[in-house]
Amino acid sequence: MQLLTGKEVTEAVYVDLKKKTIDFIEEHGFAPTLAVILVGNDPASQSYVKGKKKACISLGFGHRDYSLPEDTSQEELLSLVKTLNADSSVHGILVQLPLPKGLDENLVIATIDSRKDVDGFHPETVGKLLIGLPCFVSCTPKGVLEILDYYKIETQGKHVVVLGRSNIVGKPMAALLMQKGRDATVTVCHSKTKNLKEITKLADILISAIGKPFFVTADMVKPDSVIIDVGINRIEDATQKRGYRLVGDVDFEHVKENCLAITPVPGGVGVMTIAMLMKNTFQAAMQLSQKDNQ
Ligand code: GUN
Repeated sequence: MQLLTGKEVTEAVYVDLKKKTIDFIEEHGFAPTLAVILVGNDPASQSYVKGKKKACISLGFGHRDYSLPEDTSQEELLSLVKTLNADSSVHGILVQLPLPKGLDENLVIATIDSRKDVDGFHPETVGKLLIGLPCFVSCTPKGVLEILDYYKIETQGKHVVVLGRSNIVGKPMAALLMQKGRDATVTVCHSKTKNLKEITKLADILISAIGKPFFVTADMVKPDSVIIDVGINRIEDATQKRGYRLVGDVDFEHVKENCLAITPVPGGVGVMTIAMLMKNTFQAAMQLSQKDNQ
């Protein structure tokens, strides 16, 4: 069994980005800058936002953090997004999801200037992704592809089964893998799928993004398949100072015996997501700084 550690992949990404950032700042006199908006007090979201800020600092990127109260109105949030759209010193805008109840996620995302849509969630971006035009690729699926590429895992003609149909992971993941050049045969399963085990057992590559700890068990996996675990789930653990630990969707200890390669949690896909966000932010800064965009 080979361990597909995202850490190893991100090291290469960060070394490259650090160099490019120094050159960028020298040429333009400012740093690629990411604005992150967090609404409410969800602990997992707070922790993700912290990770994004840390990555910006380590790369020499600029960062703007907006932490808004749970009862923020739709108008207030849209107004902040519009202000950031108009601010030429901000290149990427990210609104941490999920938003508290009462806020219209789709409307907020659609309000972000698509040139600053480093999450790749804007409807225009998603449309481009589906028809194979250049665009910001959403960070988690992009991170999965980067892991597959780094470890030279071929997707052409392979049967990839994706568990989960979210807009953030499942749908873009499936679209990317069936694209010309990736050439996979893709099956997407979800909570209403019947005979799930029969389908997952056909997977050469199984990608799980459903957010249920230990959901993928050893009997669901084809021997010698590749397992990509996108889940980041908190489970209670009294032995930990913080009272919980992070596990994926996959029953790692048992599945690892049965597969060819597997991503760990933590240290797998999760660390890739932030690295890809940094790549997208750099790309946004480059594109917005080109003379014909000013
Ligand atoms: N919530 C969970 N994952 C993500 C992500 O990649 N981007 C944003 N904005 N929110 C998320």
